[in-house]
Amino acid sequence: MTATLEKFIAGLPKAELHLHIEGTFEPELMFEIAQRNKRQIRFNSVEEVKQAYRFNNLQEFLDIYYEGANVLIEERDFYDLTRAYLQRVHAQNVQHVEIFFDPQTHTDRGISFDTVIKGIYRALEEGEKQFGISFKLIMCFLRHLPEEAAFKTLEEALPFKDWIYGVGLDSSELGHPPSKFERVFAKAREAGFTLMAHAGEEGPSAYIWEALTQLNVARIDHGNRCLDDERLVQELAARQMALTLCPLSNRALKVVQTLDNYPIQKMMDKGLLITINSDDPAYFGGYINENYLGIAQPLHLSKETLAELAKNSFRASFLPEEEKEKRIARVEAYLANWD
Ligand code: ADE
Ligand code: ZN
Repeated sequence: MTATLEKFIAGLPKAELHLHIEGTFEPELMFEIAQRNKRQIRFNSVEEVKQAYRFNNLQEFLDIYYEGANVLIEERDFYDLTRAYLQRVHAQNVQHVEIFFDPQTHTDRGISFDTVIKGIYRALEEGEKQFGISFKLIMCFLRHLPEEAAFKTLEEALPFKDWIYGVGLDSSELGHPPSKFERVFAKAREAGFTLMAHAGEEGPSAYIWEALTQLNVARIDHGNRCLDDERLVQELAARQMALTLCPLSNRALKVVQTLDNYPIQKMMDKGLLITINSDDPAYFGGYINENYLGIAQPLHLSKETLAELAKNSFRASFLPEEEKEKRIARVEAYLANWD
């Protein structure tokens, strides 16, 4: 049964909509890049790094995630990082990706915005040609940093407007509500960026309201805490505002204690547009297929439900409507042809 389920998930055409490229930095590649850039890391082996990946909350993870990113220096490093991710998810039949990058994590260390984006973008273009993986690139502001720093980053992004589809908000959620970035998001909207924000991961449902009403987002990243507020659930469902859930991330960061009662079915039954994603797969124990499997097993999800989640990944994407329809039809054909 498990083998069949794994096979079904593995072949399911799907999109990934919540993925931090810095969160795909596998320890093996980290050691390789650290060595070639002559940077020290405080671990002696891949095993030691993996041992350190035990978190009690979002901040404990972020501390180690920013530390890992410190060895990324050259354009080639950002290229290699992105390329490695695309190779992995191509093998998982991911056909469209909308990936986040955190420019401030690098520009604050003296790495230029150009270096970061050129490496990432080149890998994405090549991935599209070679693997047929379409993509959108989304720039996130680090919410623990001041508003002025986000304004400065937005300025730096403008010459790359054609490469950056959207703007998001990530990092330490508690104490940094979406409203802190209302003015920057308004400016980003004027510049033509599509907007989204992490909200309701660790933070309260009120942060989701703020993201909706003050930032005018087109998608909510995580959003788990919406279940605390029935009126919010109804609003999200009425707007068909997609939530990008990340089950293995939620378990690793103790947003939930177990996936045994992960409320996916409850959310879908309430009419919410739910998608499954991997967030920071190198840190949380799995890429997208492992996230699907991580909920499918304990919750005994049917193939129909899994296919619905894959269809949702295209519905909630920023692909053009006719392209969404084509991709959704591929999922339907896959399900129909399954023995
Ligand atoms: N940056 C990388 N992963 C994140 C997460 N899960 N929440 C907030 N910021 C992040
Ligand atoms: Zn995230």
